[in-house]
Amino acid sequence: MSLKDVLLDELRDMYSAENQLVKALPKLAKGAKDAKLKALFTAHLEETKGQVERLKEVFVHLDEKPTGEHCNGMEGIVEEGKDALEKDEEGASFDCGLIGAALRTEHYEIAGYQATISMAKTLGMQDVIDLLTKNLNEEMAAAAKISEAAKPIMLESSEEPEKGKKPKSAKEKYSAQKSREDEKAAATGLRKRAS
Ligand SMILES: [Fe+2]
Repeated sequence: MSLKDVLLDELRDMYSAENQLVKALPKLAKGAKDAKLKALFTAHLEETKGQVERLKEVFVHLDEKPTGEHCNGMEGIVEEGKDALEKDEEGASFDCGLIGAALRTEHYEIAGYQATISMAKTLGMQDVIDLLTKNLNEEMAAAAKISEAAKPIMLESSEEPEKGKKPKSAKEKYSAQKSREDEKAAATGLRKRAS
């Protein structure tokens, strides 16, 4: 297996990730209460469609097919976004959950483009570098705009009343159980670090 094979795997992952986002972003846009946030998600949906097209072009340059890998990472992040959409929060606090989910998707993609650009640089693939850099720049700009739009929404959310303790749903109970398992699994390593 060579660097070019690793690059192809990662690019197919990115292609799947972008396609998953084309499906997920309309849900975030529909769910967002804040008009500016809604508009940002909608604008980024259009950008994302363009990014899918650019990735197809990358594969034309590489003389390979874009399909063949499902991105589990993005599936997980989109799943977290669904949790945020299902919360029965109101107004600004609800939007804050969506902002957290959206920023996760952007930064996941930023990492993916940074890694694949480095590989393409090592391989001297200038056309591929150019196309991927356009996508990377759009992701970074999108993340910056979402972070900027988040400021007043978070301020408003900070003034909303805290919710009292409510009984947990089956999904929340499962999540709490898994979280305890994560903690337990890490415990040995953490003890080693302390000693
Ligand atoms: Fe994207």
